[in-house]
Amino acid sequence: MNLKGNVALITGGAQGIGKVTALLLASKGADVAVSDINMEGALDTVKEIEGLGRKGLAVEGDVSNPADAERIVAKTVEELGGIDILVNNAGITRDKLLLRMTEGDWDAVLNVNLKGTFNCTKAAVKYMIKRKSGRIVNIASVVGEMGNAGQANYAASKAGIIGLTKSIAREYAQRGINVNAVAPGYIETPMTEALAEKAKEELRGQIPMARLGTPMDVGNAVYFLVSDASSYITGHVLNVNGGIYM
Ligand code: NAI
Repeated sequence: MNLKGNVALITGGAQGIGKVTALLLASKGADVAVSDINMEGALDTVKEIEGLGRKGLAVEGDVSNPADAERIVAKTVEELGGIDILVNNAGITRDKLLLRMTEGDWDAVLNVNLKGTFNCTKAAVKYMIKRKSGRIVNIASVVGEMGNAGQANYAASKAGIIGLTKSIAREYAQRGINVNAVAPGYIETPMTEALAEKAKEELRGQIPMARLGTPMDVGNAVYFLVSDASSYITGHVLNVNGGIYM
């Protein structure tokens, strides 16, 4: 399962799951572009990619903006020679109960998580179609499958990603482009750091494996879905959740 000769673009690769995934794919031989609104973090990730002996590229951009998405993908193709793999990982939360959730909270989360995935996928597919090959992995969430009080916006965005994934998988299955999603459960990253220790303890109690996941648990699933080992898999949602949802 060697990724030598492949170029990958990871959105939101400055930290957390995106960073670990970028480094894993680089360690498997891919050259990796990292896009983020946090350029300092993206540059740090790229330094580590280069430390692994691969080419890296940091591109500043907001995935919710279609022009930024076009530019991020075009720069990846220009500087690294193509785009074989896209990982739509950039995501945000703005958790509130429905009656407290503002239109701004709703729009911000839908725009980054769902529209951002649409924007980057559309930009990348244009190049992948020409080469009749490509791998797209969208980072969804267990919350998009089972819902979660206080996360109506986030859960809707992640459920939307699942529908988007399956639709695009159908559209491009005959063009050599596989489109899949990974649905992580609760993963220890800066996004979940804010959870109180008591909340984490309660969570562990609900997870059959009795632990939160690691970014590498998610990275490994992404790696499988971008490798040749999964060439007959498309439109799939791979749960990486310790068994909390089956
Ligand atoms: P994180 O907050 O640590 O990292 C997200 C990255 O996305 C950051 O570097 C951030 O700057 C970047 N980003 C945010 N808005 C952006 C935008 N508009 N354009 C470009 N980049 C942007 O989050 P984490 O935990 O690593 O999450 C990564 C993905 O995994 C997200 O899609 C998240 O929803 C998903 N996920 C995370 C889970 C968890 O428990 N941590 C569980 C399930 C899914």
